[in-house]
Amino acid sequence: MLRHALRLRAAAPAGRFSRHSGTVASPATDNAPVLGWMGRPETDANRPNEEFIPARTPADVDREHFREAPSVRFWNAWSHDDSKSPAASVADVLAQISAATKSPADAAYWAYHVFRSSWFLGQGAAGMLVSSVAGAGPEAAPTLSRARAGAAAAERLVSEAVQVYAQDLKRVNDGTHRAPYDMDPRHRQFNPAFVADKSLRFASEARSTLRKHAAATKQRLAREGEGSATEVGAEDSEETRVWLSSPLYPDYYLNTFHWQTDGWLSKASAEVYEVSTETLFVGRQDAMQRTALAPLREWFDETQESATGENVKLLEMACGTGRFLTFTRDTYPKMDTVGLDLSPFYLAEARENAEYWERFRAGDLKSGGHAGNARAVASLATGALRRVGSLAKAAGVPLPPLPAAPRAAEETRDVGEKKDLGRCEFVQAAAESMPFPDASFDAVTCVYLFHELPPAVRKEVAREAARVLKPGGVFILADSIQLGDRPRVDAHLGRFGDFNEPYYRSWLREDTVELFGERGAGLEPWTKELCSSTKVLSFRKPL
Ligand SMILES: C[S@@+](CC[C@H](N)C(=O)[O-])C[C@H]1O[C@@H](n2cnc3c(N)ncnc32)[C@H](O)[C@@H]1O
Repeated sequence: MLRHALRLRAAAPAGRFSRHSGTVASPATDNAPVLGWMGRPETDANRPNEEFIPARTPADVDREHFREAPSVRFWNAWSHDDSKSPAASVADVLAQISAATKSPADAAYWAYHVFRSSWFLGQGAAGMLVSSVAGAGPEAAPTLSRARAGAAAAERLVSEAVQVYAQDLKRVNDGTHRAPYDMDPRHRQFNPAFVADKSLRFASEARSTLRKHAAATKQRLAREGEGSATEVGAEDSEETRVWLSSPLYPDYYLNTFHWQTDGWLSKASAEVYEVSTETLFVGRQDAMQRTALAPLREWFDETQESATGENVKLLEMACGTGRFLTFTRDTYPKMDTVGLDLSPFYLAEARENAEYWERFRAGDLKSGGHAGNARAVASLATGALRRVGSLAKAAGVPLPPLPAAPRAAEETRDVGEKKDLGRCEFVQAAAESMPFPDASFDAVTCVYLFHELPPAVRKEVAREAARVLKPGGVFILADSIQLGDRPRVDAHLGRFGDFNEPYYRSWLREDTVELFGERGAGLEPWTKELCSSTKVLSFRKPL
């Protein structure tokens, strides 16, 4: 009973602009949905969330079972200071970046991430504006209050992204993982044609997503008006159905999760996924996901003689487009990996990402592991310095001679060295019944899958993850934060569920120790990390 007792949270006063949430709270009489960044419902004055917050939260359970890294305490307490003026907030952000910059490589890291986040911020804002003007969003036209709310949301998101990058950069510098390989100016994402293609895909998808969300929200409000409250997306409707069915796919899978066109089942969906999610997270998704490499490093240090990944086999369950797998392989290039997913379209995209990464790194792998970090960072810094140099030259500013430019990726590519990379295979299968023998992997990772599974399926997937893991192996779960992880956002965390995430609210309260621990899949809770809206839990399989 106590478990379900209410925790009261102060709600924003109705009808007043709330800088804290970055949204506008509706007057109690106004039935309009209140949306935040990218149309995600952040607060909803008409549907208080308190009944979803149990007296003993998942974070309370974690505290008793996991060794918590300093990031847990940091994010538990952190929130953007809404009382500051925009100018003071910008000054704060700059001071933090400056304090976290101790070398040219750090400066290159920040330059890249500030640019990347600004790009996604601009793209998201443009998407919302266009949808709003075109009447695809839930409100017909942009208003001054919406613009103010948008600016406040942007301020809060940028401030949060800076904390994420500071955490990520620290892990780069302490050798937990390499600097993101896509910082390299030779990466295809610096090619304007590649960027334009992705942006156009995003613009078209954002419009359709916001339209579907607006239609479904209208339906929900009508039902609520009739006294039957349901979560948007929880029931079958034209908007939630996908075009394909097959005995391969469980019913719950055939859904347009986050109103994504075709759900998981088209090439177009796979091609727009990364740019859509990175826009939603204002560019911080990659860094949040890389937090999962912290327990992997610790496991390597404890159990492996080589830091290159040699003789280690890793499975990534629900690998999606395989982007995280490229970061994992970039740090452990000799590791054999398997990416598993139910979607053939996402697997095809994952294969393309894997092959691009292999070509990109093939000439640069002899000094993998920690030594490789230093080399990668030096190469990135040199590239960044040279760009500054050319700008200075164009402006007529004299500069001392700069180090030689790294050769272009294609030139340095040495196909002969690809043999030094671990094998990477892809398998189409459901995570709840994987076609692998018992104890066939040293490590298993799983990123952003569990919040999309019905609770009963989570149990099956947890058992499968434990079954295929070798004794002594590590299972690493990265997913949305849960209730209690960041108490200040508890009150509106569940609203993300309204964005056609039918199982999200149940995830917020899921007891992962019951699921994976002694009484569930039989794993031992090991470590916990937090990074913005992502939590990373690791488990070990007993010897
Ligand atoms: C939110 S995406 C996450 C993808 C990737 N891990 C990432 O973080 O970018 C969820 C992925 O899980 C896959 N998926 C969902 N249910 C699955 C299941 N039961 N078995 C295997 N894959 C599943 C989907 O096809 C999709 O690629």
